[in-house]
Amino acid sequence: MRRKPLVALCLAIGTALVLTAVAAAGNGGFAPPEPQSPNADRINDAYYLIAAFAGLILLGVEGALLLFIFRFRRRNRPADAEGPQIRGNTRLELLWTIVPVLILAVTAAFVFYKIPGIENIPEARAGGERLEITVEGRQFYWRFVYPDGSTTIDELVVPANEVVVVNITAPDNDVLHSWWVPQLGGKFDAIPGQTNTTWFRARRTGRYVGRCGEFCGLQHAAMNASVLVVPRDEFEERRRQRQTDFGAEAYVGVCQKCHLPEIAYGPPLEGNPIVGDEETIRQTVTQGRGKMPAVSKGWTEEELDALTTYLKEEVGGGGQG
Ligand code: CUA
Repeated sequence: MRRKPLVALCLAIGTALVLTAVAAAGNGGFAPPEPQSPNADRINDAYYLIAAFAGLILLGVEGALLLFIFRFRRRNRPADAEGPQIRGNTRLELLWTIVPVLILAVTAAFVFYKIPGIENIPEARAGGERLEITVEGRQFYWRFVYPDGSTTIDELVVPANEVVVVNITAPDNDVLHSWWVPQLGGKFDAIPGQTNTTWFRARRTGRYVGRCGEFCGLQHAAMNASVLVVPRDEFEERRRQRQTDFGAEAYVGVCQKCHLPEIAYGPPLEGNPIVGDEETIRQTVTQGRGKMPAVSKGWTEEELDALTTYLKEEVGGGGQG
């Protein structure tokens, strides 16, 4: 008889340890990725405050539960024996009312104190600029429009330590997506015909990954975004480089998500004779065809030229590149 509780205890501890290992393997812990922008810092601060209270409550509740299970177990009492009839305990009742009210008040006050620093776009620093970018969520890629009208696909290139204003939207012929690069701030929906504005100022150069945070169709999981943060003096050069490779970038980001042979949501494009015909490609990408949406609707002439030329010369028509 004495062995049963022991076995149960061992099982419980073992399960807890296994679950800890799984959680740790996920992202190295229960914490969000290290923030690299002031707005993301403040979101994290709120997260840790709430996590601390939640942790304390968990320990309190589970601790009391375990204590009561052991302390007030049945022992030799008959199953139908009545326990002591206790009515009311003013001090305890006041305590379990006031403490949660205080916790909620502290949490709410803290979050409201942090919200302006998350929401409000800071002024540009003296001598610095504010870069304004339009982000379009599309099935199944991200299109970034820079102030000069040029674009990149799936990867936004920005200078470090500068305020970047991000206007998030989706074209009228598309569906809901959601822009989320956790290290650079919160999640914002990309809604057809509407614009949501957020911002970030990346402290460090590097590549920050993001995901589309709203289920948007079969290739939602492939709809990854990234923000490439480069030093200010490399910024223009990097972007020029991206413009020369736009055709290839668009092919990978826009076409391959559905047309790669491994995915085969659409027919393969390599060596496909239709792909060699510029007029047909142009019509297909701007107007859609069958199940395929009008992926390039609203693109500039330069973008369309780059993609159709790349498709014609590198991909379709017998595949001689
Ligand atoms: Cu776009 Cu999910």
